[in-house]
Amino acid sequence: MSRELRARIMQIVGTGMFTGLSLALGCPDYTSTVVFTRPGEAGGAGGTGGAGGEGGSAGQGGAGGQGGAGGQGGAGGQGTSSETRCFSPEEVRESASSAGGGGAGGAAGAGGSAETCPSQYHPNPVSCVVYENGRLEDGQCCYDTNNLGVGACGRPFLVGGEPRLAGVEARADWVLDAAAGEPLGLDPATRAALAEAWLADARLEHASIASFARFALDLLALGAPPALIDAAHRALADELHHARACFTLASRYAGRSLGPGPLAMDGALDAPTLTSAAVSAVREGCVGETLAALQASAQRDRARDPGARRALDRIAADEAAHAELAWAFVRWAVARGGEPVRAAVARAFDEALADVLAARGPERAGIDAAAWRDHGRLTEAERARCHLEAAREVIAPCAQALLSAPLPAPAAGAGRSIPASPA
Ligand SMILES: [Fe+2]
Ligand SMILES: [Fe+2]
Repeated sequence: MSRELRARIMQIVGTGMFTGLSLALGCPDYTSTVVFTRPGEAGGAGGTGGAGGEGGSAGQGGAGGQGGAGGQGGAGGQGTSSETRCFSPEEVRESASSAGGGGAGGAAGAGGSAETCPSQYHPNPVSCVVYENGRLEDGQCCYDTNNLGVGACGRPFLVGGEPRLAGVEARADWVLDAAAGEPLGLDPATRAALAEAWLADARLEHASIASFARFALDLLALGAPPALIDAAHRALADELHHARACFTLASRYAGRSLGPGPLAMDGALDAPTLTSAAVSAVREGCVGETLAALQASAQRDRARDPGARRALDRIAADEAAHAELAWAFVRWAVARGGEPVRAAVARAFDEALADVLAARGPERAGIDAAAWRDHGRLTEAERARCHLEAAREVIAPCAQALLSAPLPAPAAGAGRSIPASPA
C-alpha cells in the first residue's frame, strides 16, 4: 500500500538507509476530494517560480526528440486515440519554463509572436501524453496528442525536457512468450485499444532503459556511492524486462510481433551537475516512478488476465524499488551539494507536483470498460485519482521531509570540489 512505500521513502530521506529491496504495494482507496499541499507552501525550503536554469541541453532536445518520438511507426498501425489540442503562446512559454528552459524548443523564446511551433510539445513531462507535429493555427500552437497516460509509465527518458521514445517495428526478438496465444472474448475496438495502450507502455519502458543507462553514467560522473550505482544497473535490467513484457502483451493483442526501433541519442549525454542530476531525479524518479509504482499496483489489482497480472506484479514491485533509488540519490545530492541543490530540488518538486494536479487526459470511447480493467488498464479517471492520491499521501510528505531535514556534514573524502552547478 501507499503507506508502506511512504514509510520506506521516509526512512531513506530521514536516515539515508537504502536497501534497494522492493516491496509489494498498492494504490490506496480514494473516496474523497484530494486536498494537496505543495512542499513550497508548507513551510519547507521550497517555493514557486520558474524552473532552474539547469535544463542542460535546452533547445537541442526539441529537434532530437522529434526524431526519437516521431511518427516512424507510432502505434504500429493499431489505430490511435490521438486528438488535436491547441495551446496559447503563453501556455507554450510557460511549458518551456517549467521544462527547464528547453521544453518547447526553438519557439519558446518567440512567445506570442511565434511564427512556428515547437516540433514537439510536452506540457506535463511526468504524465504520458506526447504532443507531436506542432503547427500554428489562429495564433495558437496545435498538436496531435498521443495519449499514453493510462499506463504505468515509469522513468521517462527526457532530453531537453522532452520525452524521447523509439518508434515501433515488426520484430519478434523482444517478445518474451510468442506462444501466449490470443486473448479471447474481446471486441475489435477494445482489443485494438489494448494493443495501443500496451504498445505505448512498451515504448516508455524501453525509453526507461536509456534513462537508467544515463543515470548510471551520471552517478559515476558525480562520484556517487557504489550502492546507488549498483541499484541503477539493476534498474536498467528491470526496465529491459518491463519493455519486453509490455511488447509481449502488445503483440498478443495486436496479433503480430512488435518491438522497438532505434532510439535517438543525440543531445542526451550532457555532463551532469549535482543540481541538474537531482532535478532530473526528482521529476523522473521521485515523482515519475512513485506514480508508476502505485499505478501499476492499481492496474494489477483490477486485472484478471493472468498475463497482464504477471507483468504488472513485477512492474509494480520494480518501480517501487526504482522510486526508492531516486529518493536515495536526491537525498545524497542534497547532502553533498547543500542549499543550492536543496533549493533546486524544492522547485522541481513544486513544479512536478503541480503537473500531477493538472494532468487529465480524455477517456477512451467505445471500449468495454470491464474488459479494459480485466486486461490491466485503468480508465483516465482512475489513473488521475491514483496519481492525486499518490501525490498527496506519498510524494508531498516525503518531499517535505526531505526538504526540511537538516543538512548533514559531508563525509570525509566526499569530494567537496564538485560544484552544484556550472561556474
Ligand atoms: Fe519500468
Ligand atoms: Fe522504473
